Amino acid sequence: MSTLKIVKTTPFEGQKPGTSGLRKKVTEFQKPHYLENFVQSIFDNLQGHQGATLVLGGDGRYHNKPAIQTILKMAAANGFGQVLVGRDGLLSTPAVSAVIRKNKAFGGIILSASHNPAGPDGDFGIKYNAGNGGPAAEKITDAIYASSRTISEYRIEDLPDIDLSLLGENQLGAMKVKVIDPVSDYADLMEHLFDFSRIRALFDSGLFSMRFDAMSAITGPYAREILERRLGAPSGTVMRGEPLEDFGGGHPDPNLVYAHDLVEIMNSASGPDFGAASDGDGDRNMILGRKFFVTPSDSLAILAANAMLVPGYRMGLSGVARSMPTSAAVDKVAERMGIECYETPTGWKFFGNLLDARKITLCGEESFGTGSDHVREKDGLWAVLFWLNLLAVKQQSVAQIVREHWAKFGRNYYSRHDYEEVDAKAAEGLMQHLRDSFGTLQGKRFGALQVKQCDDFSYTDPVDGSVTTGQGVRILFDNGTRIVFRLSGTGTVGATLRVYLETYQPDPSKHDMDTQQALAQLIQLAEEVGQIRARTGREQPTVIT
Ligand code: G6P
Ligand code: ZN
Repeated sequence: MSTLKIVKTTPFEGQKPGTSGLRKKVTEFQKPHYLENFVQSIFDNLQGHQGATLVLGGDGRYHNKPAIQTILKMAAANGFGQVLVGRDGLLSTPAVSAVIRKNKAFGGIILSASHNPAGPDGDFGIKYNAGNGGPAAEKITDAIYASSRTISEYRIEDLPDIDLSLLGENQLGAMKVKVIDPVSDYADLMEHLFDFSRIRALFDSGLFSMRFDAMSAITGPYAREILERRLGAPSGTVMRGEPLEDFGGGHPDPNLVYAHDLVEIMNSASGPDFGAASDGDGDRNMILGRKFFVTPSDSLAILAANAMLVPGYRMGLSGVARSMPTSAAVDKVAERMGIECYETPTGWKFFGNLLDARKITLCGEESFGTGSDHVREKDGLWAVLFWLNLLAVKQQSVAQIVREHWAKFGRNYYSRHDYEEVDAKAAEGLMQHLRDSFGTLQGKRFGALQVKQCDDFSYTDPVDGSVTTGQGVRILFDNGTRIVFRLSGTGTVGATLRVYLETYQPDPSKHDMDTQQALAQLIQLAEEVGQIRARTGREQPTVIT
């Protein structure tokens, strides 16, 4: 008797994938057929997947387990030959990318809502990654959305659940389900890129200590295996290392606000030498020294400048890239190295073509994302290991490394001011007002500052020639000083206005200023040209990073 079931269904509104797939409340995903409709819409837009391999895993948040069982049965009913699934349904986002690439899989499905809170009242998400290990191109996600609007049936095998707690092969109808260790392929890749014996010696010296905050999310098992087992860091180095379905009620976003426990530990005079954290699905990172915060923009520049000290990048970098709002610190490094630096719109997907075409080796964003050509996602633990490798080779503190970098390349004072949940119309009005002011702003003097150029950033992809417009208003002054206004593409309530402020200071005697003080004149100018208070009704930003 056939176990294949063809289930009649009707479309759901709003299954439009955003920057990182479809993200909704868990309660939405729990509606009968909701997940199934979307998964069938993915499968209906693939070609050549019959008999092929799919990679499947998630960040372990609430609803991960039932969702994985459903997707397995649908993959079998849709003709996949094999699914590689992480034990207990776990796989970090960069690990999915690594497993797809290593096994030359057809593609993969990641279940995550990144750093959004989890639990029965939290968020859930699903996204499809292609055979290069990176998020599906917009052409595909648009097609998936179109299918979700007309879907009338989906295919699923009526078979019992697979026990995902045991490694090894299972049969699900005609399809093989291979439960894999979620960590080993990824950890092997890291061991190949970084000098593990040197890092191990650093831990063995007893003169160095670190703390990694997994924020009760996916990176716990990865960090324990890599840091505590393979690199010999003392147990307890990884804090909050047990992935919990509700992330312990926390908000696993590695920044100074949400990782405050770690920040407090690092701010004590007797605190560890090195601190780091990653987010819900393991693709973001925050780097800290004792009483020292490394901005993501500086971190990218420092990794690029020192890449040759790391085995995986010893041959040098083909080029680098940063998103437009990310500070130009890495540009200075690229200039010195004589390599290309690409400026892309916000969003990791814009690095994909550059990486595939080998135009760049490293890339990063101000939003706590850093990565390289080793996978096609940003990678939190990779950045942490890169820093560990540098610390082991240079035998300096985090602060010393950063200060030396500034002395050599100059310092890009940089800050982001966020105005969250402002009225969407008011935010749009503010952006339009800025665009309307381009004519009068051009060449205008504000004290010592003169506007050199102002525009709405647009990007032509050098690989496929595609053009992306309306990516943020830039007001550029001399010598790398600039203000950027942009509306967040990831907010869920109202609009979030982001104001990015940057000024370049080459003089080492002026590298010890407080960032907000160094930017005070620009902050005032942003208010003046953007009319932020009047238009948003906000006296000050909700978050300053
Ligand atoms: C996600 C993407 C990043 C992007 C960030 C920007 O995390 O993965 O690539 O930089 O969103 O968010 P925003 O809220 O500024 O649009
Ligand atoms: Zn993430």
